[in-house]
Amino acid sequence: MKFQSKGVRQTKNIASNLAKKVIKNSLQQHAQAFALEGELGAGKTTFVKGFAGAFGIKSRITSPTFVLLKGYRLPRVASQRGKQVTGYRFLYHIDAYRLKNYHDLIPLGIKEIMADPRNIVLIEWSDRVKKILPSKYIKVHIDHIGIKTRKITINNIYGPPSLKLRKGTSSPKEEMLALRSSGGAKK
Ligand SMILES: Nc1ncnc2c1ncn2[C@@H]1O[C@H](COP(=O)(O)OP(=O)(O)OP(=O)(O)O)[C@@H](O)[C@H]1O
Ligand SMILES: [Mg+2]
Repeated sequence: MKFQSKGVRQTKNIASNLAKKVIKNSLQQHAQAFALEGELGAGKTTFVKGFAGAFGIKSRITSPTFVLLKGYRLPRVASQRGKQVTGYRFLYHIDAYRLKNYHDLIPLGIKEIMADPRNIVLIEWSDRVKKILPSKYIKVHIDHIGIKTRKITINNIYGPPSLKLRKGTSSPKEEMLALRSSGGAKK
């Protein structure tokens, strides 16, 4: 699917519509991952803000450039919007800009997060950490066309997982949620 966005609000709406589809979808064997691609300032974080908004996440989404990963508990009320109850429980936002590969994400519990079908994981600069993507994920590519214009391409990708995800792991670690504070300045 291809979309043209003429401003921040449109990008957020496109993301929010995608999130609403995800809310309705049945869960898979692993986390629902989104690989966000596009140059600096393309609108990846803006997209995550719109996406999270559809799930009723009230806390301000800021870029996890320095903390790498932020976790947000999905509010129950939002899960039941439109009488459609979602099984998703947590949304994780990762910014891999400063990473050379996935190794720095292992101590943060990325394997367990990806193995749990109750998680939604959005990854900025995902090409730097390709190996942590599960077998099925959704690619969101944002092209910078003009000052306010963006082309947003959303693809479903199927492929073999590169890392073995542990089956049947318990719920995501609560301590991950502590990472949501301290946004820090942009690079
Ligand atoms: N149509 C649009 N969609 C998204 N952002 C837009 C749009 N038009 C202008 N902008 C501006 O582009 C910038 C996008 O910033 P954002 O932080 O979302 O990008 P990013 O891809 O996450 O960058 P980074 O790689 O640094 O993390 C914001 O300043 C926003 O106001
Ligand atoms: Mg960003």
